[in-house]
Amino acid sequence: MSTQPKIKVENLKLWYGDFEALHGVDLDIYEKEVTAFIGPSGCGKSTFIKTLNRMNDLVENVKIEGTVELDGKDIYKKKTDLNLLRKKVGMVFQQPNPFPKSIYDNVAYGPRTHGIKKKSELDEIVEKSLRQAAIWDEVKDHLDRNALSISGGQQQRICIARALAVEPEVLLMDEPTSALDPISTAKIEELVAQLKNDYTIVMVTHNMQQASRVSDRTAFFLNGHIIETDTTRKIFTNPSEKETENYISGRFG
Ligand SMILES: Nc1ncnc2c1ncn2[C@@H]1O[C@H](COP(=O)(O)OP(=O)(O)O)[C@@H](O)[C@H]1O
Ligand SMILES: [Mg+2]
Repeated sequence: MSTQPKIKVENLKLWYGDFEALHGVDLDIYEKEVTAFIGPSGCGKSTFIKTLNRMNDLVENVKIEGTVELDGKDIYKKKTDLNLLRKKVGMVFQQPNPFPKSIYDNVAYGPRTHGIKKKSELDEIVEKSLRQAAIWDEVKDHLDRNALSISGGQQQRICIARALAVEPEVLLMDEPTSALDPISTAKIEELVAQLKNDYTIVMVTHNMQQASRVSDRTAFFLNGHIIETDTTRKIFTNPSEKETENYISGRFG
C-alpha cells in the first residue's frame, strides 16, 4: 500500500446554517484505489464527497472547518484555483446529467473550456474518453445525437466520459448506479474496476454488495461521523465496531 495518501481529510466539520452535518471527519484516500462510502440515508455521504472538490461552495449558508489535502496541499486555502481543483477532482452524480447537446459536445465540453480548439485534437480526446468509459462502440456512429436521447445507462457513461475528458486524477461518484437498471449497473461496476488502474476513485453507494464487489477500502458513515474505515474485506467480514456490524448485517438502514 502507498504511504502518502492522495487525499487526507482531518477533523472536517460542515454546517448547513445551524445544522451540523459532519462532526469532525478524518479519512485517508489512497491513489489508484476505490474507496467506498456506505451508510444509511441522510448520514452525510453526499455532503462529505462534495467537500473533496469544494462542490459545497455552491450551496448557500455552508460553513466548513478542518482540512482536505490533495497531494499534501489544503484545497480550502483562499488561493486555491477552483477550476484547476475540479479538473483534477472530477465528479459523476446519481442522476445522469448530460448537457442537452450532442454526445460529442458533451465530452468535448471540458477540454474546450480549457482552451483546446483544434478539431483533430478534440476528436482524439472524445474518442479516447468514450473508449475509457466503455461506450465508444455503442455511440461512435452517432456522435451528433443529443445525449438526452440515449438510455440512462448510456447517459451515465457519457457523463463519466465527460469527466475523464479533462484528465482528472480523482473521480468522485455519488451513487452512480442508483438510477440504473442491473445491466447498466454491471457495466459501470466493470468500468470502475478498469478505471482504478489509472485513477483514484471515491464512490458513494447504498448497495453493500456493490461496495464489496468494487472497492478496496470502505468507510462507514453514521449521523455525520465516520464510524470505521478499513479494507473492504475487513469491513464486510470482521468489522471492529458494533454499529458497522449491525449495518452490514442489515439490522438497520
Ligand atoms: N443543502 C442542504 N441544506 C440543508 N441540509 C442539507 C442539505 N443537504 C443535505 N442536508 C442534510 O444533511 C444531512 C446529510 O445529507 P446527505 O449528505 O445528503 O446524506 P446522504 O448522502 O448520506 O444521504 C441530512 O440531514 C440532510 O437533510
Ligand atoms: Mg446522498
